[in-house]
Amino acid sequence: MKNVLHIKSGLQGEHSYSIQLGDAIIKRLQETYPGIRIRTRDLVREGFPHLQTETVNAFFTPEESRTPEQNDAIRNSERAIRELFEADILVIGVPMYNFNIPSQLKAWIDHIARAGITFRYGEHGPEGLVKNKKVYLALATGGIYTEGPNQELDFIPAYLKAVLGFMGMTDIEIIRAEGTAMPTTKAVAVEKALKTVDI
Ligand SMILES: Cc1cc2nc3c(=O)[nH]c(=O)nc-3n(C[C@H](O)[C@H](O)[C@H](O)COP(=O)(O)O)c2cc1C
Repeated sequence: MKNVLHIKSGLQGEHSYSIQLGDAIIKRLQETYPGIRIRTRDLVREGFPHLQTETVNAFFTPEESRTPEQNDAIRNSERAIRELFEADILVIGVPMYNFNIPSQLKAWIDHIARAGITFRYGEHGPEGLVKNKKVYLALATGGIYTEGPNQELDFIPAYLKAVLGFMGMTDIEIIRAEGTAMPTTKAVAVEKALKTVDI
């Protein structure tokens, strides 16, 4: 049985295009793999903290030497990593805010990128330890970034491929709802994006 981790980071609840797209991808997965288990984390509704000095200090303290306060400081990280390893498939909703990913999603990434757990430095340089995952990125952008003058501002796919790939997640499919802020494209953005999904 497959486990799916669905990460949401859109600010506008059910009106968020990235959430609508992520939900539609989940529906496809359920049709293709009956009985799959879905775990959903809405980083905006549930909240996800930024890294603090205490968090990073606790990361770098060996497990057996951590104080109760340090264990507390890494609770979010430990849970997020456990959920990550348990998943076979990740669906990550990614809205573009000010040309980048939401800070909540960045915070989640900061908590899962842990030396010795999700990546390590070996003889041949860094090695990702989160292997055999399929990742679907449900990316929503107000403008169009796959063609035209905005192409050079399309940082999100490169960043997410780099950071997830660094942790070993290299099988990444990007599904894009584009032009969600434009009157001519917003009505069909999700429908058009779903035509590109290979599930
Ligand atoms: C705070 C904020 C910043 C945004 N910045 C950008 C931007 O830099 N470029 C862009 O094309 N659209 C931008 N938009 C539009 C969003 O990308 C668009 O609404 C998209 O659908 C967001 O995903 P969501 O619907 O899941 O929230 C922004 C929207 C908000 C609310």
